[in-house]
Amino acid sequence: MKVLVIGSGGREHAIVRGLLADPSVSAVVAAPGNPGIAELATCEPLADVCDAPAVVALAARHTVDLVVVGPEAPLVAGVGDALRAAGHAVFGPDAAAARIEGSKSFAKAVMAAAGVPTSLAHVCTTEDEVAAALDSFGAPHVVKDDGLAAGKGVVVTDSRSEALAHARACLSRPGGQVVVEDYLDGPEVSVFCVSDGTTVRALAPAQDFKRIGDGDEGPNTGGMGAYSPLPWAPLHFAEWVVEHVAQPTIDELHRMGCPFVGALYCGLALTSRGPRVVEFNARFGDPDGQASLARLLTPLGTLLYAAATGRLDDFDDLRNRPESAVVVVVSADGYPAAARSGDPIAGLEEAAEVPGAWVLHAGTRVDSDGVLRSSGGRVLDVVALGATLDAARAAAYEAISRIRLDGSHHRRDIALAAARGEVLVPGGAA
Ligand code: GLY
Repeated sequence: MKVLVIGSGGREHAIVRGLLADPSVSAVVAAPGNPGIAELATCEPLADVCDAPAVVALAARHTVDLVVVGPEAPLVAGVGDALRAAGHAVFGPDAAAARIEGSKSFAKAVMAAAGVPTSLAHVCTTEDEVAAALDSFGAPHVVKDDGLAAGKGVVVTDSRSEALAHARACLSRPGGQVVVEDYLDGPEVSVFCVSDGTTVRALAPAQDFKRIGDGDEGPNTGGMGAYSPLPWAPLHFAEWVVEHVAQPTIDELHRMGCPFVGALYCGLALTSRGPRVVEFNARFGDPDGQASLARLLTPLGTLLYAAATGRLDDFDDLRNRPESAVVVVVSADGYPAAARSGDPIAGLEEAAEVPGAWVLHAGTRVDSDGVLRSSGGRVLDVVALGATLDAARAAAYEAISRIRLDGSHHRRDIALAAARGEVLVPGGAA
């Protein structure tokens, strides 16, 4: 099977790596890919991943059997629709189903119809409505831009004026709308559920670290690290999520006439009142997806092709490695406020020599002088498998110590509390 992968980040590098580990995959083409992916697969230029005719033309030119769309923007823009209309098997939902990520208010409506546990929320179109909603819930305040906002749409703050200012900025855009939500306490879990529109299979749960600094200090980022498994999570949590969250959501989307084919990212908080959905996304997480994918033993190409062609029922539950996976993101100087690009990167071969570790490229480029340089906020994902979380952490941090990138930053506490048994679940992990 020949596969085209759309995207250029660490998630897509992990997907390409996983596909090529599947004997049924003979070749992978990535567009636009990145220098790390180019070591494994053919990379094709693609100026805009949302350019549906260009993506369709690439799929036709390479006569691929499957297209995997990694990021959310092309899915929300309808790249999946265009590929399907041209007769391709696609892993990634059509635009109508991708609204589960593209519109927070749509996601809330689907959850309400499907009986999925989530936070209370008000959809607001004026500042007065926002003020009333903030006051009815109290602090901490949660304000979400209704639409896609490249990771900058959600503000969680104790400051009412900061919450209002974020809402004002979102509302000032044409058609601006925000969702004000009740704050969900408790540790967060990401569960990636593969679906063919009817059947659902879950990958191993992972936890993402969204803040820039150790101890969850500082501003939000796209994600600074992740790990799997979660020793503190309830037993059989992935099965619980399929039964109570993913399957009802997939069924509701099907009933609405927009079947969801792809990865339904269920982001949950384990609150004192039980698990609640914080958000849905229409794709694998980044970098939390890399942790779950690192543990997946079920052949990835076969799995994604089965989902794309309505045959997921052929699979029993997915198989995962017993080992732990830890992912640590190496970010550029100035990230997330103003990431500096263009710094040379060295030491990747030495890092990859650490047993159990490998390096995914997230924001890199090779310049005309042949030098690998940073090109974006999150530059590298260092992934490691180990017999325990401690062993995986040790391998990941040993690999990072061998990487040289001026001004780079990484968190030192990825999976640390879990390894020490210090993650607290309000009300206990029942
Ligand atoms: N790591 C969060 C996300 O992928 O949205």
